[in-house]
Amino acid sequence: MTLAVKYTFKTLFFEATRECNFACPMCMASSNNKELVAESLKRQLNTEEIEEYVFKGGKEIALDTITWSGGEFILRPDATELVHRATAYGYSSIVTTNGAYMDREKLLELKKASGNTVVIAVGINSIDEKNVETRDIDCDVALQVLELCEELEVRRNVVVTVGKHNLESLGSTLQWLEDRNIPFNRSPFTPRGSGTAFREELGFTVDDMERYIHPELRKHPLGYISYTPFFLSPEVHERYSKGSKNVTVPQSPSIGCWCGTWLAMNAEGDVAPCAIMLDDVNCGNVRDKSLHEIIDSSETFQRILDRNQLQGKCGRCRYKFTCGGCRALAYYAHGDVMAEDPNCFFEPEDETTVCEHEEETNRMFKRFAFMQRAADKVISLERDRARRQFAHELDDES
Ligand SMILES: C[S@@+](CC[C@H](N)C(=O)[O-])C[C@H]1O[C@@H](n2cnc3c(N)ncnc32)[C@H](O)[C@@H]1O
Ligand code: SF4
Ligand code: SF4
Repeated sequence: MTLAVKYTFKTLFFEATRECNFACPMCMASSNNKELVAESLKRQLNTEEIEEYVFKGGKEIALDTITWSGGEFILRPDATELVHRATAYGYSSIVTTNGAYMDREKLLELKKASGNTVVIAVGINSIDEKNVETRDIDCDVALQVLELCEELEVRRNVVVTVGKHNLESLGSTLQWLEDRNIPFNRSPFTPRGSGTAFREELGFTVDDMERYIHPELRKHPLGYISYTPFFLSPEVHERYSKGSKNVTVPQSPSIGCWCGTWLAMNAEGDVAPCAIMLDDVNCGNVRDKSLHEIIDSSETFQRILDRNQLQGKCGRCRYKFTCGGCRALAYYAHGDVMAEDPNCFFEPEDETTVCEHEEETNRMFKRFAFMQRAADKVISLERDRARRQFAHELDDES
Protein backbone atom coordinates (compact mmCIF):
# COMPACT_ATOMS: atom_id res chain seq x y z
CA MET A 1 0.00 0.00 0.00
CA THR A 2 1.36 3.46 -0.86
CA LEU A 3 0.73 6.16 1.75
CA ALA A 4 -0.37 9.64 0.66
CA VAL A 5 2.31 11.93 2.09
CA LYS A 6 2.24 15.66 2.69
CA TYR A 7 6.03 15.99 3.00
CA THR A 8 8.86 14.20 1.21
CA PHE A 9 12.01 14.19 3.31
CA LYS A 10 14.10 11.53 1.57
CA THR A 11 17.03 11.38 3.98
CA LEU A 12 17.37 11.31 7.76
CA PHE A 13 20.80 12.15 9.17
CA PHE A 14 20.75 10.33 12.48
CA GLU A 15 23.52 10.84 15.06
CA ALA A 16 22.50 7.61 16.77
CA THR A 17 25.15 7.78 19.50
CA ARG A 18 27.55 10.39 20.85
CA GLU A 19 30.04 7.72 21.89
CA CYS A 20 33.29 7.77 19.95
CA ASN A 21 36.72 6.13 19.97
CA PHE A 22 38.25 9.50 19.09
CA ALA A 23 38.18 12.99 20.51
CA CYS A 24 38.51 15.38 17.56
CA PRO A 25 38.80 18.86 19.10
CA MET A 26 36.14 20.56 16.93
CA CYS A 27 33.60 17.71 17.04
CA MET A 28 30.14 19.14 16.40
CA ALA A 29 28.49 16.20 18.21
CA SER A 30 30.65 16.93 21.31
CA SER A 31 31.84 13.34 21.22
CA ASN A 32 35.16 14.49 22.69
CA ASN A 33 33.36 15.55 25.90
CA LYS A 34 33.35 12.50 28.20
CA GLU A 35 30.76 13.79 30.71
CA LEU A 36 28.34 14.90 28.02
CA VAL A 37 28.69 11.52 26.25
CA ALA A 38 28.07 9.63 29.53
CA GLU A 39 24.89 11.67 30.14
CA SER A 40 23.72 11.14 26.57
CA LEU A 41 24.22 7.36 26.76
CA LYS A 42 21.61 7.24 29.54
CA ARG A 43 19.05 8.95 27.29
CA GLN A 44 20.00 7.59 23.85
CA LEU A 45 17.17 6.07 21.77
CA ASN A 46 17.18 2.27 22.02
CA THR A 47 16.63 -0.29 19.26
CA GLU A 48 12.86 -0.59 19.76
CA GLU A 49 12.39 3.19 19.87
CA ILE A 50 14.33 3.57 16.62
CA GLU A 51 12.17 0.91 15.01
CA GLU A 52 8.99 2.71 16.10
CA TYR A 53 9.94 6.34 15.53
CA VAL A 54 12.27 6.06 12.54
CA PHE A 55 11.55 2.86 10.60
CA LYS A 56 7.78 3.06 11.01
CA GLY A 57 7.46 6.87 11.42
CA GLY A 58 9.72 7.52 8.43
CA LYS A 59 7.13 6.08 6.06
CA GLU A 60 4.85 9.06 6.77
CA ILE A 61 7.39 11.48 5.29
CA ALA A 62 8.52 9.29 2.37
CA LEU A 63 11.94 8.67 3.90
CA ASP A 64 14.08 6.29 1.88
CA THR A 65 17.63 6.75 3.23
CA ILE A 66 19.10 6.80 6.72
CA THR A 67 22.57 8.23 7.24
CA TRP A 68 23.81 6.66 10.46
CA SER A 69 26.24 8.98 12.18
CA GLY A 70 27.47 9.86 15.65
CA GLY A 71 29.84 9.76 17.43
CA GLU A 72 31.05 6.58 15.85
CA PHE A 73 27.86 4.75 14.92
CA ILE A 74 29.44 1.28 14.74
CA LEU A 75 30.24 1.49 18.48
CA ARG A 76 26.53 0.94 19.15
CA PRO A 77 26.18 -2.77 20.01
CA ASP A 78 23.04 -2.87 17.84
CA ALA A 79 24.59 -1.01 14.85
CA THR A 80 24.57 -3.98 12.46
CA GLU A 81 21.10 -5.03 13.62
CA LEU A 82 19.82 -1.49 12.98
CA VAL A 83 21.20 -1.48 9.44
CA HIS A 84 19.64 -4.91 8.90
CA ARG A 85 16.22 -3.89 10.18
CA ALA A 86 16.34 -0.61 8.26
CA THR A 87 16.94 -2.68 5.11
CA ALA A 88 13.98 -4.93 5.92
CA TYR A 89 11.79 -1.83 6.23
CA GLY A 90 12.97 -0.70 2.78
CA TYR A 91 15.57 1.96 3.70
CA SER A 92 19.04 2.45 2.25
CA SER A 93 21.76 2.93 4.85
CA ILE A 94 24.79 5.20 4.70
CA VAL A 95 27.22 4.65 7.57
CA THR A 96 29.56 7.53 8.43
CA THR A 97 32.82 6.55 10.07
CA ASN A 98 36.21 7.75 11.21
CA GLY A 99 37.53 4.46 9.82
CA ALA A 100 39.50 3.13 12.80
CA TYR A 101 37.27 0.09 13.46
CA MET A 102 35.97 -0.30 9.93
CA ASP A 103 37.99 -3.40 9.13
CA ARG A 104 37.33 -6.17 6.62
CA GLU A 105 35.15 -8.12 9.06
CA LYS A 106 32.96 -5.10 9.94
CA LEU A 107 32.57 -4.10 6.29
CA LEU A 108 31.51 -7.61 5.30
CA GLU A 109 29.11 -7.73 8.25
CA LEU A 110 27.45 -4.44 7.22
CA LYS A 111 27.40 -5.47 3.59
CA LYS A 112 25.59 -8.72 4.44
CA ALA A 113 23.21 -7.03 6.91
CA SER A 114 22.15 -4.55 4.22
CA GLY A 115 21.77 -7.09 1.42
CA ASN A 116 24.79 -5.46 -0.32
CA THR A 117 23.26 -1.97 -0.29
CA VAL A 118 25.22 -0.10 2.41
CA VAL A 119 27.33 2.99 1.58
CA ILE A 120 30.37 3.73 3.77
CA ALA A 121 31.05 7.47 4.20
CA VAL A 122 34.56 8.14 5.48
CA GLY A 123 35.63 11.49 6.94
CA ILE A 124 38.74 13.02 5.35
CA ASN A 125 39.59 16.69 5.73
CA SER A 126 42.92 16.73 3.89
CA ILE A 127 44.54 14.13 1.72
CA ASP A 128 47.87 14.79 3.45
CA GLU A 129 49.55 14.98 6.85
CA LYS A 130 47.38 18.01 7.78
CA ASN A 131 44.38 15.72 8.26
CA VAL A 132 45.44 15.03 11.88
CA GLU A 133 45.09 18.69 12.80
CA THR A 134 41.29 18.37 12.82
CA ARG A 135 40.46 14.67 12.54
CA ASP A 136 42.37 12.99 15.43
CA ILE A 137 43.39 10.37 12.88
CA ASP A 138 45.96 9.84 10.21
CA CYS A 139 44.59 10.11 6.69
CA ASP A 140 46.08 6.67 5.83
CA VAL A 141 43.50 4.93 8.02
CA ALA A 142 40.63 6.47 6.06
CA LEU A 143 42.38 5.68 2.78
CA GLN A 144 42.73 2.02 3.77
CA VAL A 145 38.97 1.87 4.40
CA LEU A 146 38.31 3.32 0.95
CA GLU A 147 40.63 0.71 -0.61
CA LEU A 148 38.97 -2.11 1.33
CA CYS A 149 35.54 -0.91 0.17
CA GLU A 150 36.72 -1.07 -3.43
CA GLU A 151 38.09 -4.57 -2.96
CA LEU A 152 34.93 -5.81 -1.20
CA GLU A 153 32.60 -4.00 -3.63
CA VAL A 154 31.02 -1.83 -0.97
CA ARG A 155 29.84 1.62 -2.13
CA ARG A 156 31.89 4.47 -0.71
CA ASN A 157 31.65 8.16 -0.14
CA VAL A 158 33.81 10.82 1.53
CA VAL A 159 32.83 13.70 3.82
CA VAL A 160 35.21 16.67 3.67
CA THR A 161 34.73 19.23 6.44
CA VAL A 162 35.75 22.58 4.98
CA GLY A 163 37.18 25.40 7.09
CA LYS A 164 40.25 27.58 7.53
CA HIS A 165 42.23 24.40 8.24
CA ASN A 166 42.09 23.01 4.69
CA LEU A 167 41.76 26.00 2.36
CA GLU A 168 45.14 25.24 0.78
CA SER A 169 44.72 21.47 0.44
CA LEU A 170 41.06 21.43 -0.63
CA GLY A 171 41.92 21.44 -4.34
CA SER A 172 44.25 18.43 -4.13
CA THR A 173 41.84 16.55 -1.84
CA LEU A 174 38.89 16.98 -4.23
CA GLN A 175 41.03 16.19 -7.28
CA TRP A 176 42.26 13.01 -5.57
CA LEU A 177 38.64 11.96 -5.02
CA GLU A 178 37.61 12.77 -8.58
CA ASP A 179 40.57 10.83 -10.02
CA ARG A 180 39.23 7.77 -8.18
CA ASN A 181 35.60 8.47 -9.03
CA ILE A 182 34.67 8.76 -5.34
CA PRO A 183 31.58 10.92 -4.66
CA PHE A 184 31.93 13.39 -1.81
CA ASN A 185 29.99 15.78 0.33
CA ARG A 186 31.36 18.95 1.82
CA SER A 187 30.42 19.76 5.42
CA PRO A 188 31.04 23.43 6.24
CA PHE A 189 32.87 23.89 9.56
CA THR A 190 30.19 24.91 12.07
CA PRO A 191 30.38 26.40 15.54
CA ARG A 192 28.19 23.60 16.94
CA GLY A 193 29.06 21.51 20.02
CA SER A 194 32.83 21.44 20.61
CA GLY A 195 33.20 23.36 17.33
CA THR A 196 31.99 26.48 19.16
CA ALA A 197 35.45 27.06 20.66
CA PHE A 198 37.00 27.09 17.16
CA ARG A 199 34.66 29.62 15.60
CA GLU A 200 37.37 32.22 14.93
CA GLU A 201 40.15 29.76 14.17
CA LEU A 202 38.33 27.50 11.69
CA GLY A 203 35.28 29.42 10.45
CA PHE A 204 35.81 30.53 6.85
CA THR A 205 35.01 34.01 5.52
CA VAL A 206 33.25 35.30 2.39
CA ASP A 207 36.67 35.98 0.95
CA ASP A 208 37.82 32.39 1.65
CA MET A 209 34.68 31.13 -0.06
CA GLU A 210 35.26 33.26 -3.14
CA ARG A 211 39.03 32.73 -3.44
CA TYR A 212 39.60 29.15 -2.29
CA ILE A 213 36.49 27.08 -1.60
CA HIS A 214 34.01 27.88 -4.37
CA PRO A 215 36.47 27.63 -7.29
CA GLU A 216 37.26 24.06 -6.14
CA LEU A 217 33.69 23.00 -5.39
CA ARG A 218 32.26 24.16 -8.70
CA LYS A 219 34.87 22.17 -10.68
CA HIS A 220 33.81 18.74 -9.44
CA PRO A 221 30.40 17.32 -10.41
CA LEU A 222 30.91 14.39 -7.99
CA GLY A 223 30.38 16.86 -5.15
CA TYR A 224 27.36 18.69 -6.61
CA ILE A 225 25.06 16.89 -4.21
CA SER A 226 25.03 19.83 -1.79
CA TYR A 227 26.90 23.07 -1.36
CA THR A 228 26.22 26.79 -1.30
CA PRO A 229 26.35 29.25 -2.94
CA PHE A 230 25.05 27.13 -5.84
CA PHE A 231 24.37 29.01 -9.06
CA LEU A 232 22.11 26.53 -10.82
CA SER A 233 19.54 28.01 -13.15
CA PRO A 234 16.05 27.39 -11.70
CA GLU A 235 14.84 26.67 -15.26
CA VAL A 236 17.41 23.90 -15.73
CA HIS A 237 16.41 22.21 -12.46
CA GLU A 238 12.71 22.60 -13.23
CA ARG A 239 13.15 20.95 -16.63
CA TYR A 240 15.34 18.16 -15.35
CA SER A 241 13.27 17.31 -12.25
CA LYS A 242 9.91 18.03 -13.87
CA GLY A 243 9.19 20.41 -11.02
CA SER A 244 9.74 17.88 -8.23
CA LYS A 245 9.80 19.61 -4.82
CA ASN A 246 9.04 19.29 -1.11
CA VAL A 247 6.69 22.28 -0.66
CA THR A 248 9.09 24.83 -2.30
CA VAL A 249 12.42 23.01 -1.94
CA PRO A 250 13.65 21.40 -5.20
CA GLN A 251 14.20 17.63 -5.26
CA SER A 252 15.09 14.83 -7.72
CA PRO A 253 17.87 15.65 -7.31
CA SER A 254 18.26 17.68 -4.11
CA ILE A 255 20.91 20.38 -4.55
CA GLY A 256 22.23 23.56 -2.87
CA CYS A 257 21.23 23.77 0.79
CA TRP A 258 19.59 20.50 1.85
CA CYS A 259 17.41 22.10 4.55
CA GLY A 260 13.85 21.21 3.64
CA THR A 261 14.78 18.07 1.73
CA TRP A 262 16.46 16.13 4.56
CA LEU A 263 16.20 16.27 8.33
CA ALA A 264 18.37 15.32 11.28
CA MET A 265 18.03 13.74 14.69
CA ASN A 266 20.41 13.50 17.62
CA ALA A 267 21.04 10.49 19.87
CA GLU A 268 18.35 11.62 22.33
CA GLY A 269 15.66 11.99 19.65
CA ASP A 270 15.62 15.77 19.11
CA VAL A 271 14.91 16.74 15.50
CA ALA A 272 16.41 19.63 13.50
CA PRO A 273 16.25 20.70 9.82
CA CYS A 274 19.96 19.93 9.33
CA ALA A 275 22.75 17.86 10.89
CA ILE A 276 24.85 20.90 11.64
CA MET A 277 22.02 22.61 13.56
CA LEU A 278 21.35 19.65 15.89
CA ASP A 279 21.22 20.47 19.64
CA ASP A 280 21.01 24.22 18.89
CA VAL A 281 17.76 24.21 16.86
CA ASN A 282 15.31 21.75 18.40
CA CYS A 283 12.00 21.32 16.57
CA GLY A 284 10.67 18.54 18.80
CA ASN A 285 11.47 15.08 20.13
CA VAL A 286 10.34 11.81 18.56
CA ARG A 287 9.46 10.46 22.00
CA ASP A 288 6.70 13.12 22.09
CA LYS A 289 5.61 13.46 18.45
CA SER A 290 6.05 11.57 15.18
CA LEU A 291 8.47 12.92 12.56
CA HIS A 292 5.48 14.05 10.50
CA GLU A 293 3.90 15.88 13.46
CA ILE A 294 7.20 17.57 14.31
CA ILE A 295 7.54 18.93 10.77
CA ASP A 296 3.89 19.89 10.58
CA SER A 297 3.80 21.75 13.91
CA SER A 298 7.28 23.32 13.93
CA GLU A 299 7.41 26.97 12.91
CA THR A 300 11.08 26.53 12.00
CA PHE A 301 10.38 23.64 9.61
CA GLN A 302 7.44 25.48 8.07
CA ARG A 303 9.57 28.56 7.41
CA ILE A 304 12.43 26.50 6.02
CA LEU A 305 10.04 24.72 3.66
CA ASP A 306 8.93 28.06 2.23
CA ARG A 307 11.91 29.61 0.49
CA ASN A 308 9.81 32.65 -0.40
CA GLN A 309 10.43 33.68 3.21
CA LEU A 310 14.22 33.90 2.79
CA GLN A 311 15.70 37.19 4.01
CA GLY A 312 18.33 39.64 2.78
CA LYS A 313 20.07 38.91 -0.48
CA CYS A 314 18.96 35.24 -0.46
CA GLY A 315 15.38 36.56 -0.51
CA ARG A 316 15.92 38.63 -3.68
CA CYS A 317 18.11 36.07 -5.46
CA ARG A 318 17.43 34.17 -8.68
CA TYR A 319 18.89 31.07 -6.96
CA LYS A 320 16.74 31.17 -3.82
CA PHE A 321 15.21 27.77 -4.69
CA THR A 322 18.15 25.98 -6.33
CA CYS A 323 20.67 27.29 -3.77
CA GLY A 324 18.74 28.68 -0.81
CA GLY A 325 21.93 29.71 1.00
CA CYS A 326 23.30 27.62 3.89
CA ARG A 327 20.57 27.82 6.53
CA ALA A 328 22.88 26.52 9.25
CA LEU A 329 25.60 29.12 8.65
CA ALA A 330 22.86 31.78 8.45
CA TYR A 331 21.56 30.64 11.82
CA TYR A 332 25.00 30.67 13.47
CA ALA A 333 25.82 34.10 12.02
CA HIS A 334 22.47 35.86 12.52
CA GLY A 335 20.42 33.73 14.94
CA ASP A 336 17.69 33.27 12.29
CA VAL A 337 17.39 30.19 10.05
CA MET A 338 15.96 32.36 7.25
CA ALA A 339 18.67 35.04 7.28
CA GLU A 340 21.02 35.48 4.33
CA ASP A 341 23.98 33.14 3.88
CA PRO A 342 26.94 34.94 5.53
CA ASN A 343 29.50 33.30 3.21
CA CYS A 344 28.03 34.13 -0.18
CA PHE A 345 30.01 36.49 -2.42
CA PHE A 346 27.22 36.98 -4.98
CA GLU A 347 25.50 40.38 -4.80
CA PRO A 348 22.17 40.12 -6.63
CA GLU A 349 20.30 43.33 -7.23
CA ASP A 350 17.09 41.45 -7.76
CA GLU A 351 15.87 38.16 -9.22
CA THR A 352 17.05 39.12 -12.71
CA THR A 353 20.75 39.22 -11.73
CA VAL A 354 22.53 36.22 -13.29
CA CYS A 355 25.79 35.01 -11.75
CA GLU A 356 28.88 34.65 -13.97
CA HIS A 357 29.23 31.04 -12.71
CA GLU A 358 25.74 29.95 -13.77
CA GLU A 359 26.79 28.50 -17.13
CA GLU A 360 29.54 26.36 -15.62
CA THR A 361 27.22 25.24 -12.79
CA ASN A 362 24.50 24.24 -15.27
CA ARG A 363 26.99 22.23 -17.30
CA MET A 364 28.45 20.39 -14.30
CA PHE A 365 25.00 19.88 -12.80
CA LYS A 366 23.88 18.01 -15.92
CA ARG A 367 26.85 15.64 -15.59
CA PHE A 368 26.11 15.17 -11.88
CA ALA A 369 22.37 14.71 -12.41
CA PHE A 370 22.71 12.05 -15.12
CA MET A 371 25.17 10.08 -12.97
CA GLN A 372 22.91 10.53 -9.93
CA ARG A 373 19.78 9.42 -11.79
CA ALA A 374 21.51 6.27 -13.07
CA ALA A 375 22.85 5.52 -9.56
CA ASP A 376 19.42 6.20 -7.98
CA LYS A 377 17.78 3.69 -10.31
CA VAL A 378 20.26 0.98 -9.33
CA ILE A 379 20.01 1.86 -5.61
CA SER A 380 16.23 1.82 -5.70
CA LEU A 381 16.15 -1.60 -7.40
CA GLU A 382 18.71 -2.99 -4.96
CA ARG A 383 16.85 -1.50 -1.99
CA ASP A 384 13.65 -3.22 -3.12
CA ARG A 385 15.40 -6.51 -3.67
CA ALA A 386 17.00 -6.34 -0.20
CA ARG A 387 13.69 -5.38 1.41
CA ARG A 388 12.00 -8.42 -0.18
CA GLN A 389 14.87 -10.60 1.01
CA PHE A 390 14.47 -9.53 4.66
CA ALA A 391 10.88 -8.27 5.03
CA HIS A 392 9.60 -11.63 6.30
CA GLU A 393 11.70 -11.06 9.45
CA LEU A 394 9.47 -8.17 10.55
CA ASP A 395 6.55 -8.84 12.91
CA ASP A 396 4.15 -6.68 10.95
CA GLU A 397 5.18 -5.79 7.42
CA SER A 398 5.45 -2.06 6.76
C1 LIG B 1 30.47 14.16 13.77
S1 LIG B 1 31.22 13.08 12.60
C2 LIG B 1 30.51 11.50 13.00
C3 LIG B 1 30.95 10.39 12.09
C4 LIG B 1 32.36 9.87 12.29
N1 LIG B 1 32.71 9.68 13.63
C5 LIG B 1 33.33 10.76 11.58
O1 LIG B 1 34.10 11.44 12.26
O2 LIG B 1 33.35 10.78 10.36
C6 LIG B 1 30.40 13.44 11.05
C7 LIG B 1 31.11 14.47 10.19
O3 LIG B 1 31.01 15.71 10.85
C8 LIG B 1 32.20 16.44 10.63
N2 LIG B 1 32.35 17.45 11.67
C9 LIG B 1 32.82 17.30 12.94
N3 LIG B 1 32.78 18.47 13.58
C10 LIG B 1 32.31 19.39 12.72
C11 LIG B 1 32.07 20.79 12.80
N4 LIG B 1 32.33 21.48 13.91
N5 LIG B 1 31.54 21.41 11.72
C12 LIG B 1 31.28 20.72 10.58
N6 LIG B 1 31.50 19.40 10.43
C13 LIG B 1 32.02 18.74 11.49
C14 LIG B 1 33.27 15.36 10.70
O4 LIG B 1 34.47 15.81 10.08
C15 LIG B 1 32.59 14.22 9.98
O5 LIG B 1 32.88 14.29 8.60
S1 SF4 C 1 34.35 14.06 14.45
FE1 SF4 C 1 33.77 11.88 14.37
S2 SF4 C 1 35.67 10.81 14.97
FE2 SF4 C 1 35.90 12.90 15.62
S3 SF4 C 1 35.22 12.93 17.78
FE3 SF4 C 1 33.50 13.57 16.47
S4 SF4 C 1 32.38 11.72 16.10
FE4 SF4 C 1 34.42 11.11 16.81
S1 SF4 D 1 22.40 35.12 -2.32
FE1 SF4 D 1 21.75 33.34 -1.13
S2 SF4 D 1 20.45 32.16 -2.52
FE2 SF4 D 1 21.64 33.60 -3.77
S3 SF4 D 1 23.44 32.46 -4.42
FE3 SF4 D 1 23.98 33.58 -2.55
S4 SF4 D 1 23.60 32.10 -0.90
FE4 SF4 D 1 22.52 31.35 -2.71
